[in-house]
Amino acid sequence: MPLAVLASRALLGLEAPAVQVEVHLSGGLPAFSIVGLPEAEVREARERVRSALLNSSLPFPSSRRIVVNLAPADLPKESGRFDLPIALGLLAAQGAIDPARLSGHEFAGELSLSGELRPVRGALAMACAAGCDSALRFVLPLASAREAALAAPDAVLGAQHLNDVVAYLGGQIQAQALRVTVPVATPPALADLADVRGQALARRALEIAAAGGHHLLLVGPPGSGKTMLAQRLPGLLPELTRQQALQSAAMLSLAGSFQPAQWGVRCLRSPHHGCSPAALLGGLAAGGVRPGEVSLAHHGVLFLDELPEFDRRALEGLREPLESSRVHLARAAHRAELPARFQLVAAMNPCPCGHLGDPTRPCRCTPAQVARYRARLSGPLLDRIDLRVEVAALAPAELLELPAGEASAVVAGRVRLAADRQQQRQGAPNSALDGQPLQQHCCLDSESRNWLAGALARVGASARATHRVLRVARTIADLGDCGPLARRHLAEALQLRRALDRP
Ligand SMILES: Nc1ncnc2c1ncn2[C@@H]1O[C@H](COP(=O)(O)OP(=O)(O)OP(=O)(O)O)[C@@H](O)[C@H]1O
Ligand SMILES: [Mg+2]
Ligand SMILES: [Zn+2]
Repeated sequence: MPLAVLASRALLGLEAPAVQVEVHLSGGLPAFSIVGLPEAEVREARERVRSALLNSSLPFPSSRRIVVNLAPADLPKESGRFDLPIALGLLAAQGAIDPARLSGHEFAGELSLSGELRPVRGALAMACAAGCDSALRFVLPLASAREAALAAPDAVLGAQHLNDVVAYLGGQIQAQALRVTVPVATPPALADLADVRGQALARRALEIAAAGGHHLLLVGPPGSGKTMLAQRLPGLLPELTRQQALQSAAMLSLAGSFQPAQWGVRCLRSPHHGCSPAALLGGLAAGGVRPGEVSLAHHGVLFLDELPEFDRRALEGLREPLESSRVHLARAAHRAELPARFQLVAAMNPCPCGHLGDPTRPCRCTPAQVARYRARLSGPLLDRIDLRVEVAALAPAELLELPAGEASAVVAGRVRLAADRQQQRQGAPNSALDGQPLQQHCCLDSESRNWLAGALARVGASARATHRVLRVARTIADLGDCGPLARRHLAEALQLRRALDRP
């Protein structure tokens, strides 16, 4: 039959909607056209598919009129992922493959001119979308298949060359030969909190941040250990659930940067302060959605060192994901949305020279310089950072004499208990508490309510800040295994967001 229909998938953010690849051969003037609003890369598929078939000693219908339709037409389609289904469709339409063998399969993969299969972005998202159907087989380039196998180990087949896929569909080799093993890699060893001496306040803030998923800003002079502390946050966090691990890996897969060693690991993304707004927040390029650091840190930690040095637009752009855990991307008529449920840990000096408030070294900045430096962080941005603490520099004698700090494993044990309490009570971390559940689980007696209202009014706090204080207080109570919120929980929560407060 001169018509073949194959199943594939496009990539739309983290989603992978189904695409039908229809290949029709007819008489008339020889031509090869692809319809269904393909972008430039798909048009190039014509050349790759022709060369790959010829160089793999497979028939190419040069004397026929070829029409390839990628449906539905309104989905954006990018990259060479449709090369493989188009090539197989051409073979089936010529009778070189039994079309009945194609059903129950989905195909994606870019072809080299010699017929080798090249990996495609987002294979994990594609397999997640297709993986629910246990009878389905997903045929992918080998490297992509190894990724996709994390989501659907039994459904994925990996091939290195077009000829391997043709041999499988022709029955010359069995599916078993194309099975891939899920890669196991030992995650990198994490730095331990035991290395940090002293700094009781910052350590406490780090533990609370880890337990409730709260954002944290560390303010202190150079060399006080801010970077050290921030880098130790991932090692304190509760383990990822399988669902979270899949989403995190799917995001890295979308960026084409997933490594097996990252599977199940809370990632720590530390972009440099020189990075562009698009690199931080994500963007839409001709090749599709490019996740930014906020999305690559999905379910992990985003560490922004030297926070005021970041581009102003990048900092303001953080407000949306900090509030809603998502980013909206736009470019000309295109729109996309990506999840960005990261935990922010940021660090900065208190002033341009770094020594404001440091008892050991004088600050050389003028008040105007300090004000300008701090004004780089807008009120609404700071408002969204639940915990803001000062980290004082240790004197050399203290550093030498203080004993090693509590180890990450011990702190992580307390964090896990507090996180379990939150899961059991509301099925989400305290940082995500909102609406009615927030009212219910952070309910105050009238005395505490009056006290908190007075304290917040004195610092001119916003409604948003009020809710953030309540969430942090809830986490403090959970770390202490307490039921209702008490005054001391509120007082500590307020105490831990005082840095940079204007007097
Ligand atoms: N509390 C501490 N315990 C142990 N070592 C410390 C501590 N504070 C600082 N150090 C030492 O100082 C070094 C610098 O610390 P770190 O880079 O974290 O400072 P920082 O606050 O980020 O400084 P900067 O503002 O210059 O970025 C660490 O690598 C460590 O050797
Ligand atoms: Mg630092
Ligand atoms: Zn200064």
